Amino acid sequence: MQQLEKAAIDDKSYSLEDWRKGYESQYQELEYLIEDVEGEIPLDLSGTLYRNGPGLLEVHGTPLRHPFDGDGMICAFTFENGSCFFRNRFVKTKEYLEEQKAGKMLYRGVFGSQKPGGWLANLFDIRVKNIANTNVIHWGNKLLALWEAAFPYTLNPENLDTIGLDNLDGILQQGEVFSAHPRIDPHSQFNDDKPSLINFGIKPGPSSTINIYEFDELGKIIQKYSHETRGFCFIHDFVITPNYCIFFQNPTTYNPLPFVFGLRGAGECLDFDGTKPTKIILIPRNAPHDKVVTLETEAGFIFHHSNAFEINNNEIVVDSICYAELSQIDPNNSYKEVDFDKLAPGQLWRFKLNLSTKTVTKELINNRCVEFPYINSENVGGDYRYIFIGATDHPTKNAPLQGLLKIDLVTKEEQLYSFAPKGFTGESVFISKNNPQSEDDGWILSLIYDSSQNRSNLVIFDGKDISTPIATLYLKQHIPYGLHGSWKGN
Ligand code: CO
Repeated sequence: MQQLEKAAIDDKSYSLEDWRKGYESQYQELEYLIEDVEGEIPLDLSGTLYRNGPGLLEVHGTPLRHPFDGDGMICAFTFENGSCFFRNRFVKTKEYLEEQKAGKMLYRGVFGSQKPGGWLANLFDIRVKNIANTNVIHWGNKLLALWEAAFPYTLNPENLDTIGLDNLDGILQQGEVFSAHPRIDPHSQFNDDKPSLINFGIKPGPSSTINIYEFDELGKIIQKYSHETRGFCFIHDFVITPNYCIFFQNPTTYNPLPFVFGLRGAGECLDFDGTKPTKIILIPRNAPHDKVVTLETEAGFIFHHSNAFEINNNEIVVDSICYAELSQIDPNNSYKEVDFDKLAPGQLWRFKLNLSTKTVTKELINNRCVEFPYINSENVGGDYRYIFIGATDHPTKNAPLQGLLKIDLVTKEEQLYSFAPKGFTGESVFISKNNPQSEDDGWILSLIYDSSQNRSNLVIFDGKDISTPIATLYLKQHIPYGLHGSWKGN
């Protein structure tokens, strides 16, 4: 028995000690030309990769209960003529500045970070902090830092200075929010076949409202519509097709009392209810948007979708990273002590929605634990072949993400590049080349944390073959594990 346990330990591709070093705060705001480069930066890679994620994992000495509560820090990697300039800045939200001035934590975090002083200090304090830490996107001449429970913050795209909270020219009304997962329809039928940005915001309650916003390429609103659904909604991401916005309403219940009474964070009051089905809500993008179709499938929990496409008028495919349940962090233990073996793994599933028979079938595409899918932007909402996704080193066991996995959905072939044992990954961004010859003809940019040097590297791969990086750009410092980002071409 002892030998078996030892074998299981030796089997790990990582050590928890190495992994948790990537969750140390980065206080510095830097800007420099990256000079330590191995390989060649492609000359025709021209534009800026923006990334967002929690930069501080404590607030003036009070550690966060959950990294999702950390103040948003934006990194910009600007490529031109085979070189790359790095810059990082915190999003100077109102709450961040107030806490800087006070020199202490003033706000509770949604995911359970409490002010010091126990429950009494947190009693009835239901103010939440807009941490603007989840995604960053350039659209309609604005650079927006996104967090799903509030308005976006606009930043200066050149120097990352914070400009301020943005209601998007009055489109977001008081009390509305703008999610961190907008989708770009590359050829919108509602914008003369030009690209459009579609995003949603959830107003949760016993009955929840899903607001949907579609913007043209200049950031002007094309249409805004909404749908009310019964029950509490925790929806982080969605997918689009030419004719639908598709939402998976995971079966969760919400009891806000422990939050109001200062005992738990708002996010910790969310409970997964495995006895109820997941509702799949298809909202037509065509006015008057009232022919909403709701289907049901087994319980499960989804943060991120890969893509969706229509096969014909009656059939839609949705590919998603699905968990058997929502894993909560043990309230008596730091997230840094997490036992990955005890967490539900996230795996890639394909859902087939039949709108005539109102049935859903699902199929596991891949056994490996994966998260943060990214695809060629030209294929969003349409049939597609390749997914680039963060993956574990081990083919089946749950673990931190340490690899980049390319999945060919047609041949089912896979290619994995692993940074184990010392490197840790997250989301990678795919950038199509000019005049691409195929869907995977582009570059992949992966920001990885190298625990052996306690610094981060930006690694560039060729999308056609990820067996060896084209270039590795060594930063002077580490970037704490981030969430999402996007590319703005020149
Ligand atoms: Co996300």
